[in-house]
Amino acid sequence: MASKKGNGHWGNPIQTGSAFDFRSDVITTPSLGMLEAIQQATLNDDVYGEDQTTRSFENQIAAMCGKEAAVLVVSGTMANQLSIRALLHQPPYSILADSQAHIIHFEAGGLAHLSGAMVQAIRPMNGLYITLADIEKHAILSDQPERCPTKTISIENTAHGNIIPLNELHKIKYWAAKHGIGVHIDGARLWHAVVAGAGTLEQFASYCDALTLSFNKALGAPMGAMVVGSQDLIKRVRRLRQSIGGGVRQTGIMAAMARQAVLDNFGAKQVDSRGELEKTHDMAKMLGRAWTDAGGRLLRPVETNMVWLDMKSAGISIEAFNEMGKRHGILVNGKRIMVHHQICEAANQKLTRMFDELLTPIQATVSGIVLNSALSKNKSAIVIASTLGSLVRRKRRLFNAREFKISFFRATDKACEISYTGCANKTGASGRAYQGTGRARVMDMRCWGRVK
Ligand SMILES: Cc1ncc(COP(=O)(O)O)c(C=O)c1O
Repeated sequence: MASKKGNGHWGNPIQTGSAFDFRSDVITTPSLGMLEAIQQATLNDDVYGEDQTTRSFENQIAAMCGKEAAVLVVSGTMANQLSIRALLHQPPYSILADSQAHIIHFEAGGLAHLSGAMVQAIRPMNGLYITLADIEKHAILSDQPERCPTKTISIENTAHGNIIPLNELHKIKYWAAKHGIGVHIDGARLWHAVVAGAGTLEQFASYCDALTLSFNKALGAPMGAMVVGSQDLIKRVRRLRQSIGGGVRQTGIMAAMARQAVLDNFGAKQVDSRGELEKTHDMAKMLGRAWTDAGGRLLRPVETNMVWLDMKSAGISIEAFNEMGKRHGILVNGKRIMVHHQICEAANQKLTRMFDELLTPIQATVSGIVLNSALSKNKSAIVIASTLGSLVRRKRRLFNAREFKISFFRATDKACEISYTGCANKTGASGRAYQGTGRARVMDMRCWGRVK
């Protein structure tokens, strides 16, 4: 089941596997309602501008956002790239964005070849999202010939699950307008900010010149995104879309599914009226608490549907974590846990159990072994125990072992050498016994003074 992908049945997340998949919200599968919506869609040509389903959906989204116009495109990436390109006019120009932004890392370098722009990737000072203080510090306003002026600021909201509040966006937009700089919001998951009560779509849209919205994230459509802005901007986007082959003919099919996704999981107005996404926030918060209750640390506060686990402090690699997920019957992809509307309760329970197993220390076994062993006189048993403890914990994660026996060790000032044998625990897939030799460094020398 969960660890392999299912057969892809319409409308059944258990069968498609998305109910157990925490890797992203893009893996959600279309509903039966979307299939029915296709059957009602008009099938006219959108490049000729003749498809009624598409046009009425574009008008609906523009109205929800309080903007003049909107244009449907196939993906969020296309929406972002076209928005930014349309905001830029005469090079040289640069785009200022969060150093972790999707437009920088996951859009195949489109900013370089589609916009020919320099990118100013900045690390937000507050560790969460871009603020005006970051922009004022880094934007290039100079018209000196050797400089490349900032002409667009691109902001992701939500930013990795965290919400950039309206008052910050207001300040940014005001400042940008004063300096003739365009503002783009990558609102792939703006739905979540609205659901969290941070503002309406219209309020968020009022603080940018181009807004992109995705229907295949959060809402569950299989494809489709929208660029929303002024008439003039959308006219430019339509031409640019055509120039990169993004003019699709019978888009009514795509528009019908996307519109159904909005209706099903958000509602027809500017504010969430369905409560579907709110449930994902509750689940994410519950999972965040489960992780911290088990002793883990979070990299970001949980505000919407994402939980960011501090894997380093938990001492586990991404690969081992992902493997462990498969053994528990769920799919995860490292430190970002993404909750979506198709995740089921059983998947939450599996993940919570996995957190417990991962973070619960097995000190008792270790100290028993240490006390039974012949320690060299000048070493503290407790330090050795804790060193061995962390080593064994790491090994246990690697092998998913409960029983771990240390048969030999030699301790020096800097290292602790052991040989060990163990066997996979009851949830382990292989059940095989294993053995080997490990070295653990004594990490915190200050401990020596404290525990003696
Ligand atoms: C913040 C953000 N923007 C844009 C995109 C691109 O969307 P798409 O996969 O539809 O191209 C993604 C994809 O995950 C995203 O996370």
